[in-house]
Amino acid sequence: MTMSRRSLVAANWKMNGTLHGIRKLTADLRAGINDGGRAEVAICAPFPYLAEMQHALNGSAIALGAQNVSEHESGAYTGEVSAAMLLDYNCAFAIVGHSERRALYGETDAVVTRKFVRAVTSGLTPILCVGESLAERESGQTQDVVARQLDAVIAGAGIGAFAKAVLAYEPVWAIGTGRTASPEQAQEVHAFIRLRLARHDEGVADRLRVLYGGSVKAANAGALFGMADIDGGLVGGASLDGAEFISICRAVR
Ligand code: 13P
Repeated sequence: MTMSRRSLVAANWKMNGTLHGIRKLTADLRAGINDGGRAEVAICAPFPYLAEMQHALNGSAIALGAQNVSEHESGAYTGEVSAAMLLDYNCAFAIVGHSERRALYGETDAVVTRKFVRAVTSGLTPILCVGESLAERESGQTQDVVARQLDAVIAGAGIGAFAKAVLAYEPVWAIGTGRTASPEQAQEVHAFIRLRLARHDEGVADRLRVLYGGSVKAANAGALFGMADIDGGLVGGASLDGAEFISICRAVR
């Protein structure tokens, strides 16, 4: 299993920023990430800024993404945003099943699966997030939880859909806490994820990019990205600082 995968570093800005602030940050990132380099880079921005960002990133090496997408195609779903709307603004990616969506907005494995399928069939690349809570890790359930989250989507979407997807392992206890999984802890779960997918299709498992998310910063990115099954990162807090995020992108070897 020595397939080479191009790393991806994706920013998840979450519900942060103002129009003024994101203009400056986007300009800084555009200036600092101009070579298309070793890693593919994407920014998952808040919905209202997508139009602005589409123009600001036009012709740059940075792709645009959203943080969520409706499971429905269109219709009476007040407050929701469809895949077609995201494609109108040149979004390439949509985060699906982020732990904050699961924990705070009641997104079940079934909902996450439908969003994943909607993204793939619409031509968006879902960044599917999985990961265990602190209590689950401490009670030895990490693999069970990740397997459950993954198996639901494999069963509902089919393994072939993963050829058009990205995965992110985001241990909930490491998100926004400053407590990063060690490279070895993360690698262990990434390898588990790849093996789980390989039971269905080795080629798909081999080619799938599995990102790590959870307190990634410039100081730890190199060690994390150096692990065999870690193909980049999904970066929250540190992606709001232009210089820091650029350093993280450059940590890809
Ligand atoms: P932090 O990088 O702030 O820990 O957030 C990680 C995350 O949730 C990215 O989706």
